Amino acid sequence: MTELTHPLATVPQDELVARAEADPHRPRFHFVSPAGWLNDPNGVSQWNGTYHLFYQYNPEGAFHHRILWGHATSTDLVNWADQPVALEPSEGPDTDGCWSGVLVDDGGTPTLVYSGRHGERELPCVAVGSPDLLTWTKAPENPVIPAPPAGVDVTAYRDHCVWREGSVWRQLVGSGIRGRGGTAFLYESADLRRWDYIGPLFIGDAASGDPTATDWQGTMWECVDLFSTGEGTLGAGPFDDPTPGGGTDVLVFSAWHDGDTRHPLYWTGRYAGDSFKPRELHRLDYGGRYFYAPQSFADESGRRVMFGWLQEGRTEAAMVESGWSGVMSLPRVATLDAAGELAFAPVPELESLRRDHVRIGPRTVGTGEVLAGVSGNQLDLELNLELEPGTVFRLGLLGGGDAGAHEETVVEIGHLTGEGALPASYILLDRSRSSLDRMVDAGPRSGALTLAGGKLKLRVLVDRSALEIFANGRPLTARAYPTLGGERVRVSADGNVRLHQLDAWRMDAIFDTPRNLFPGRSAAL
Ligand code: FRU
Repeated sequence: MTELTHPLATVPQDELVARAEADPHRPRFHFVSPAGWLNDPNGVSQWNGTYHLFYQYNPEGAFHHRILWGHATSTDLVNWADQPVALEPSEGPDTDGCWSGVLVDDGGTPTLVYSGRHGERELPCVAVGSPDLLTWTKAPENPVIPAPPAGVDVTAYRDHCVWREGSVWRQLVGSGIRGRGGTAFLYESADLRRWDYIGPLFIGDAASGDPTATDWQGTMWECVDLFSTGEGTLGAGPFDDPTPGGGTDVLVFSAWHDGDTRHPLYWTGRYAGDSFKPRELHRLDYGGRYFYAPQSFADESGRRVMFGWLQEGRTEAAMVESGWSGVMSLPRVATLDAAGELAFAPVPELESLRRDHVRIGPRTVGTGEVLAGVSGNQLDLELNLELEPGTVFRLGLLGGGDAGAHEETVVEIGHLTGEGALPASYILLDRSRSSLDRMVDAGPRSGALTLAGGKLKLRVLVDRSALEIFANGRPLTARAYPTLGGERVRVSADGNVRLHQLDAWRMDAIFDTPRNLFPGRSAAL
């Protein structure tokens, strides 16, 4: 058995997998690490048809420390095969952790650009992969950028977005300038090894907005991700390029402040030359930190596919005891909608997990009824609704218990006049009765919706403690930890709400064999 080194490594490593598997809150059709800690998606890509998902991983226990790169592959974005750990700290610039990064195709050679952590600082490093992407060799030139830009007082400096532009590579490194705001520094290189600093792509304003607001930009931008939503490629034209479908670029970042992971946001705008002209700032997911550090890629069919990290809503002690922490989101496709904002939908491949179809409707929603034939904690629900002005619709999930002690997680959709704290049309996730466990996060999550003609397409994926909700394309991701094992699904309405159709499926599990903390290694640690 391995030595227990970190103070939080109180669960022996050889017990972690069994503990994790025994936890009723552990999702069954989301990707999770074999056990231990998982955070950001890294190196998300499709290579010769195979999808690759790397992730921030600590197999020592369910806490963030000395991070490795876990690795899994898939041919359908649904079922994942564990692969050997891709990167682990070694003496040198990544001795304290292999932090987030990306995968690029360097003329046929798979290449990772990641943040090596040494002491309290992170610097850009490179590793080169074997043709099957299973074995990685760190570049002797590491760190490939020796320090943050000279003369700039940075709040932090890490995470990468790398793309090919014409005959050169370009890179963004997430950062923040003290006293000003978050930023992404732009670099250029011919060979991914020697980088010339160009300047900040664009600097946010940390002083604008309320630091407690759900769209505050933070003092540092983690995991910057720049992409084009149109048919054009990044940097393909000047600022005023009128190319149809090629005119909107998106800069995604995770707003961070003083060690606090706040929420993912994005700017729409235009990237040209050496800068980004912002148009509008938006929230990426109404769940805030429950969909953090997202990373996206264009797959071989041209879809923009994004993954994010679903953080936990329970205490550090509860995570450590359970033997695992962190869920990878389902892959979601991003498109630009008519309002010029990102709309999201889970990849259609997930439909292969659907079982036991039930259809309800059309009919009017009553004042509260448990849906017969629809229950469970691994569910995919699709609702097609129409709300008259002045109405509210509620969908109760994970309902259990009785009048004495009961639990329910409620998705509320309002189509009102906007007089209270909420926008006129909104989605609200009410977790105040989600769990009898008073130690878990029960705070509400909400955001604005556009309900043209009162019409709403609602998609809800429940996977034990993981919830992913899409309301007319706006995502709200969160966690819930019911203690009663409830599986009831309930609908109710205030006023006239029409349920055109509800389709429900139980979702199958994606892992059925016990997993190995160190895939590819023999069970002995
Ligand atoms: C975001 C993040 C990144 C960093 C990684 C470390 O969650 O803090 O900025 O590279 O996680 O695990």
